[in-house]
Amino acid sequence: MLEITNLRNGTVLNAVDILTYVADGISLPVHMIPDGGFPAGTPEDEVKGILVTWLASPEVLRYTAARGLNLVICHEPLYWDEREESPLYRSSGPYRNPLDRKSHPNNLKKKIIEENNLTVLHIHYSLDKLIIYDAFSEKLGLKEVAAGEMYEKVYSLPEKMSFRKLVENVRERINLPVIRYVGDENRIIEKVGNCWGGAALSSNRYFTRRMIENGAEAIICGELDEAAMFFALEYGVCLIETSHVLSENPGIKEFADDLRRSFGSVPVEFFEIKIPYKIYEHGR
Ligand SMILES: [Fe+2]
Repeated sequence: MLEITNLRNGTVLNAVDILTYVADGISLPVHMIPDGGFPAGTPEDEVKGILVTWLASPEVLRYTAARGLNLVICHEPLYWDEREESPLYRSSGPYRNPLDRKSHPNNLKKKIIEENNLTVLHIHYSLDKLIIYDAFSEKLGLKEVAAGEMYEKVYSLPEKMSFRKLVENVRERINLPVIRYVGDENRIIEKVGNCWGGAALSSNRYFTRRMIENGAEAIICGELDEAAMFFALEYGVCLIETSHVLSENPGIKEFADDLRRSFGSVPVEFFEIKIPYKIYEHGR
Protein backbone atom coordinates (compact mmCIF):
# COMPACT_ATOMS: atom_id res chain seq x y z
CA MET A 1 0.00 0.00 0.00
CA LEU A 2 1.24 3.50 -0.75
CA GLU A 3 1.66 5.97 2.07
CA ILE A 4 0.65 9.10 0.26
CA THR A 5 -1.73 11.89 1.02
CA ASN A 6 -3.25 14.19 -1.55
CA LEU A 7 -1.03 17.25 -1.79
CA ARG A 8 -2.85 18.95 -4.67
CA ASN A 9 -2.49 22.70 -4.12
CA GLY A 10 -4.14 23.93 -7.29
CA THR A 11 -1.37 26.00 -8.86
CA VAL A 12 1.71 23.83 -9.04
CA LEU A 13 1.49 20.34 -10.49
CA ASN A 14 3.00 17.88 -8.03
CA ALA A 15 3.84 14.30 -8.90
CA VAL A 16 1.16 13.02 -6.54
CA ASP A 17 -1.51 14.89 -8.54
CA ILE A 18 -0.96 12.42 -11.37
CA LEU A 19 -1.33 9.46 -9.04
CA THR A 20 -4.46 10.99 -7.54
CA TYR A 21 -5.87 11.45 -11.04
CA VAL A 22 -5.31 7.76 -11.76
CA ALA A 23 -6.71 6.67 -8.39
CA ASP A 24 -9.83 8.81 -9.03
CA GLY A 25 -10.16 7.15 -12.43
CA ILE A 26 -10.46 3.71 -10.83
CA SER A 27 -12.43 4.96 -7.80
CA LEU A 28 -9.78 3.93 -5.30
CA PRO A 29 -8.21 6.09 -2.58
CA VAL A 30 -4.52 6.66 -3.35
CA HIS A 31 -3.42 4.81 -0.21
CA MET A 32 -5.32 1.70 -1.32
CA ILE A 33 -3.36 1.27 -4.58
CA PRO A 34 -1.70 -2.14 -4.15
CA ASP A 35 1.60 -1.62 -5.95
CA GLY A 36 3.84 0.99 -7.54
CA GLY A 37 4.70 4.38 -6.08
CA PHE A 38 7.81 6.57 -6.21
CA PRO A 39 11.01 4.54 -6.60
CA ALA A 40 12.77 7.87 -7.25
CA GLY A 41 11.82 11.33 -6.04
CA THR A 42 8.87 12.18 -3.84
CA PRO A 43 5.13 12.83 -4.24
CA GLU A 44 5.77 16.53 -3.52
CA ASP A 45 8.12 16.98 -6.49
CA GLU A 46 7.02 19.70 -8.88
CA VAL A 47 6.27 18.38 -12.36
CA LYS A 48 7.76 20.34 -15.25
CA GLY A 49 7.11 17.75 -17.93
CA ILE A 50 6.01 14.13 -18.13
CA LEU A 51 7.27 11.14 -20.05
CA VAL A 52 5.00 8.10 -20.10
CA THR A 53 6.41 4.71 -21.00
CA TRP A 54 6.16 0.97 -20.44
CA LEU A 55 9.72 0.54 -19.09
CA ALA A 56 12.04 3.21 -17.66
CA SER A 57 15.24 1.96 -19.31
CA PRO A 58 18.50 3.97 -19.14
CA GLU A 59 17.72 5.16 -22.69
CA VAL A 60 14.32 6.41 -21.58
CA LEU A 61 15.77 8.20 -18.53
CA ARG A 62 18.43 9.94 -20.63
CA TYR A 63 15.83 10.92 -23.22
CA THR A 64 13.58 12.37 -20.50
CA ALA A 65 16.39 14.57 -19.20
CA ALA A 66 17.43 15.65 -22.71
CA ARG A 67 13.85 16.76 -23.43
CA GLY A 68 13.73 18.86 -20.27
CA LEU A 69 11.05 16.66 -18.69
CA ASN A 70 11.38 15.57 -15.06
CA LEU A 71 8.66 13.01 -14.29
CA VAL A 72 8.87 9.51 -15.76
CA ILE A 73 5.74 7.40 -15.44
CA CYS A 74 6.45 3.71 -16.07
CA HIS A 75 4.16 0.69 -15.97
CA GLU A 76 6.79 -1.94 -15.18
CA PRO A 77 9.08 -1.63 -12.13
CA LEU A 78 12.00 0.81 -12.41
CA TYR A 79 14.62 -1.52 -10.89
CA TRP A 80 15.37 -5.15 -11.71
CA ASP A 81 14.57 -7.45 -8.85
CA GLU A 82 15.85 -10.94 -8.07
CA ARG A 83 15.41 -13.41 -5.25
CA GLU A 84 18.40 -14.48 -3.18
CA GLU A 85 19.32 -18.03 -4.24
CA SER A 86 19.97 -20.52 -1.45
CA PRO A 87 23.58 -21.81 -0.97
CA LEU A 88 22.62 -25.13 -2.64
CA TYR A 89 22.17 -23.36 -5.96
CA ARG A 90 25.04 -20.87 -5.98
CA SER A 91 28.79 -20.66 -6.05
CA SER A 92 30.77 -20.95 -2.83
CA GLY A 93 31.90 -18.01 -0.76
CA PRO A 94 30.02 -14.91 0.27
CA TYR A 95 26.78 -13.96 -1.44
CA ARG A 96 27.36 -11.65 -4.40
CA ASN A 97 24.83 -8.86 -4.24
CA PRO A 98 23.62 -7.62 -7.63
CA LEU A 99 24.45 -3.99 -6.91
CA ASP A 100 28.06 -4.77 -5.88
CA ARG A 101 28.88 -4.59 -9.54
CA LYS A 102 28.99 -1.03 -10.84
CA SER A 103 27.68 -1.88 -14.30
CA HIS A 104 24.43 -3.43 -13.00
CA PRO A 105 21.58 -1.61 -14.81
CA ASN A 106 20.05 -0.54 -11.49
CA ASN A 107 23.23 1.37 -10.60
CA LEU A 108 23.22 3.00 -14.02
CA LYS A 109 19.58 4.03 -13.73
CA LYS A 110 20.13 5.44 -10.25
CA LYS A 111 23.06 7.51 -11.52
CA ILE A 112 21.08 8.99 -14.43
CA ILE A 113 18.15 9.76 -12.13
CA GLU A 114 20.34 11.51 -9.54
CA GLU A 115 22.39 13.47 -12.08
CA ASN A 116 19.23 14.79 -13.72
CA ASN A 117 17.03 15.12 -10.66
CA LEU A 118 14.28 12.94 -12.13
CA THR A 119 11.16 11.72 -10.37
CA VAL A 120 9.91 8.25 -11.29
CA LEU A 121 6.33 7.18 -10.68
CA HIS A 122 5.66 3.47 -11.13
CA ILE A 123 1.97 2.74 -11.80
CA HIS A 124 1.26 -0.94 -12.34
CA TYR A 125 -2.09 -2.23 -11.08
CA SER A 126 -3.89 1.07 -11.56
CA LEU A 127 -2.91 1.50 -15.21
CA ASP A 128 -3.95 -2.06 -16.02
CA LYS A 129 -7.29 -1.34 -14.41
CA LEU A 130 -7.74 2.17 -15.77
CA ILE A 131 -6.85 1.65 -19.38
CA ILE A 132 -4.37 -1.08 -20.46
CA TYR A 133 -6.65 -4.14 -20.38
CA ASP A 134 -9.49 -2.33 -22.20
CA ALA A 135 -7.17 -0.79 -24.78
CA PHE A 136 -5.84 -4.24 -25.72
CA SER A 137 -9.39 -5.65 -26.01
CA GLU A 138 -10.22 -2.72 -28.28
CA LYS A 139 -7.07 -3.25 -30.36
CA LEU A 140 -8.13 -6.88 -30.84
CA GLY A 141 -11.67 -5.85 -31.79
CA LEU A 142 -13.16 -7.65 -28.78
CA LYS A 143 -16.38 -5.94 -27.70
CA GLU A 144 -19.15 -8.38 -26.82
CA VAL A 145 -18.68 -9.96 -23.40
CA ALA A 146 -20.09 -13.49 -23.33
CA ALA A 147 -19.19 -14.42 -19.75
CA GLY A 148 -17.12 -13.43 -16.72
CA GLU A 149 -16.07 -10.11 -15.30
CA MET A 150 -12.95 -8.04 -14.73
CA TYR A 151 -9.86 -9.76 -16.16
CA GLU A 152 -11.67 -13.11 -16.36
CA LYS A 153 -13.99 -11.97 -19.16
CA VAL A 154 -14.58 -14.03 -22.26
CA TYR A 155 -15.65 -12.28 -25.47
CA SER A 156 -17.69 -13.53 -28.43
CA LEU A 157 -15.91 -12.97 -31.72
CA PRO A 158 -17.95 -10.94 -34.25
CA GLU A 159 -17.98 -14.15 -36.34
CA LYS A 160 -16.80 -17.71 -35.78
CA MET A 161 -13.52 -18.55 -37.48
CA SER A 162 -10.82 -21.19 -37.58
CA PHE A 163 -8.03 -20.80 -35.06
CA ARG A 164 -5.65 -20.32 -37.99
CA LYS A 165 -7.74 -17.35 -39.18
CA LEU A 166 -7.78 -15.90 -35.67
CA VAL A 167 -3.97 -16.10 -35.52
CA GLU A 168 -3.79 -14.25 -38.85
CA ASN A 169 -6.24 -11.59 -37.62
CA VAL A 170 -4.23 -11.02 -34.45
CA ARG A 171 -0.98 -10.77 -36.42
CA GLU A 172 -2.50 -8.09 -38.63
CA ARG A 173 -3.86 -6.09 -35.72
CA ILE A 174 -0.71 -6.20 -33.57
CA ASN A 175 1.81 -6.04 -36.44
CA LEU A 176 4.18 -8.69 -35.15
CA PRO A 177 7.18 -10.19 -36.95
CA VAL A 178 6.37 -13.63 -35.56
CA ILE A 179 3.56 -15.32 -33.64
CA ARG A 180 3.84 -18.38 -31.40
CA TYR A 181 0.61 -20.27 -30.91
CA VAL A 182 -0.63 -23.43 -29.25
CA GLY A 183 -3.53 -25.60 -30.40
CA ASP A 184 -5.36 -27.01 -33.40
CA GLU A 185 -5.35 -24.63 -36.39
CA ASN A 186 -8.62 -26.07 -37.72
CA ARG A 187 -10.60 -25.69 -34.53
CA ILE A 188 -13.55 -23.31 -34.92
CA ILE A 189 -13.32 -20.51 -32.35
CA GLU A 190 -16.18 -18.42 -31.07
CA LYS A 191 -15.14 -17.39 -27.54
CA VAL A 192 -11.82 -15.77 -26.67
CA GLY A 193 -10.10 -14.26 -23.63
CA ASN A 194 -7.69 -11.33 -23.35
CA CYS A 195 -4.65 -12.28 -21.27
CA TRP A 196 -2.62 -9.12 -21.91
CA GLY A 197 0.89 -8.32 -20.59
CA GLY A 198 2.21 -11.02 -18.30
CA ALA A 199 -1.21 -12.26 -17.20
CA ALA A 200 -0.85 -15.52 -19.17
CA LEU A 201 2.49 -16.46 -17.61
CA SER A 202 2.48 -19.57 -15.39
CA SER A 203 3.03 -17.40 -12.35
CA ASN A 204 -0.39 -15.81 -13.07
CA ARG A 205 -2.17 -19.05 -14.05
CA TYR A 206 -5.38 -18.00 -12.29
CA PHE A 207 -6.42 -15.76 -15.19
CA THR A 208 -5.98 -18.39 -17.89
CA ARG A 209 -7.82 -20.97 -15.79
CA ARG A 210 -10.71 -18.63 -15.10
CA MET A 211 -11.07 -17.75 -18.79
CA ILE A 212 -11.16 -21.46 -19.66
CA GLU A 213 -13.81 -22.00 -16.97
CA ASN A 214 -15.77 -19.10 -18.48
CA GLY A 215 -15.82 -20.82 -21.87
CA ALA A 216 -12.75 -19.47 -23.70
CA GLU A 217 -11.73 -21.68 -26.62
CA ALA A 218 -8.75 -19.48 -27.42
CA ILE A 219 -6.86 -16.91 -25.35
CA ILE A 220 -4.95 -14.04 -26.89
CA CYS A 221 -1.96 -13.43 -24.65
CA GLY A 222 0.80 -10.95 -24.10
CA GLU A 223 3.81 -13.03 -23.05
CA LEU A 224 3.94 -16.82 -22.61
CA ASP A 225 6.28 -19.39 -21.10
CA GLU A 226 6.34 -23.06 -22.08
CA ALA A 227 4.72 -24.32 -18.87
CA ALA A 228 1.73 -22.06 -19.66
CA MET A 229 1.63 -23.59 -23.14
CA PHE A 230 1.68 -27.18 -21.82
CA PHE A 231 -1.07 -26.30 -19.33
CA ALA A 232 -3.23 -24.98 -22.19
CA LEU A 233 -2.60 -28.13 -24.24
CA GLU A 234 -3.65 -30.34 -21.33
CA TYR A 235 -6.76 -28.21 -20.74
CA GLY A 236 -7.62 -28.24 -24.48
CA VAL A 237 -7.52 -24.50 -25.12
CA CYS A 238 -5.72 -22.59 -27.90
CA LEU A 239 -3.24 -19.80 -27.11
CA ILE A 240 -1.84 -16.97 -29.21
CA GLU A 241 1.22 -15.12 -27.94
CA THR A 242 1.63 -11.50 -29.02
CA SER A 243 4.12 -9.64 -26.81
CA HIS A 244 4.16 -8.32 -23.27
CA VAL A 245 5.15 -4.80 -24.26
CA LEU A 246 3.14 -4.61 -27.49
CA SER A 247 -0.03 -5.70 -25.73
CA GLU A 248 0.39 -2.93 -23.14
CA ASN A 249 1.68 -0.09 -25.32
CA PRO A 250 -1.76 0.86 -26.75
CA GLY A 251 -3.13 1.57 -23.25
CA ILE A 252 -0.02 3.41 -22.14
CA LYS A 253 -0.13 5.65 -25.20
CA GLU A 254 -3.82 6.34 -24.55
CA PHE A 255 -2.96 7.23 -20.96
CA ALA A 256 -0.33 9.73 -22.18
CA ASP A 257 -2.96 11.29 -24.47
CA ASP A 258 -5.36 11.55 -21.49
CA LEU A 259 -2.72 13.26 -19.34
CA ARG A 260 -1.99 15.74 -22.14
CA ARG A 261 -5.68 16.66 -22.26
CA SER A 262 -6.05 16.86 -18.46
CA PHE A 263 -2.76 18.55 -17.49
CA GLY A 264 -2.19 20.96 -20.35
CA SER A 265 0.16 23.17 -18.34
CA VAL A 266 3.10 20.77 -18.78
CA PRO A 267 4.37 18.85 -21.81
CA VAL A 268 3.51 15.14 -21.94
CA GLU A 269 5.32 12.64 -24.17
CA PHE A 270 4.81 8.95 -24.85
CA PHE A 271 7.98 6.88 -25.34
CA GLU A 272 7.31 3.72 -27.33
CA ILE A 273 9.29 0.69 -26.14
CA LYS A 274 9.79 -1.83 -28.93
CA ILE A 275 10.02 -5.64 -28.63
CA PRO A 276 13.50 -6.48 -27.30
CA TYR A 277 14.37 -9.44 -29.56
CA LYS A 278 15.27 -10.08 -33.19
CA ILE A 279 14.12 -13.03 -35.30
CA TYR A 280 16.67 -15.36 -36.88
CA GLU A 281 15.39 -16.70 -40.17
CA HIS A 282 17.38 -19.61 -41.49
CA GLY A 283 18.65 -19.03 -45.01
CA ARG A 284 18.18 -15.27 -45.01
FE1 LIG B 1 3.08 -5.90 -17.64
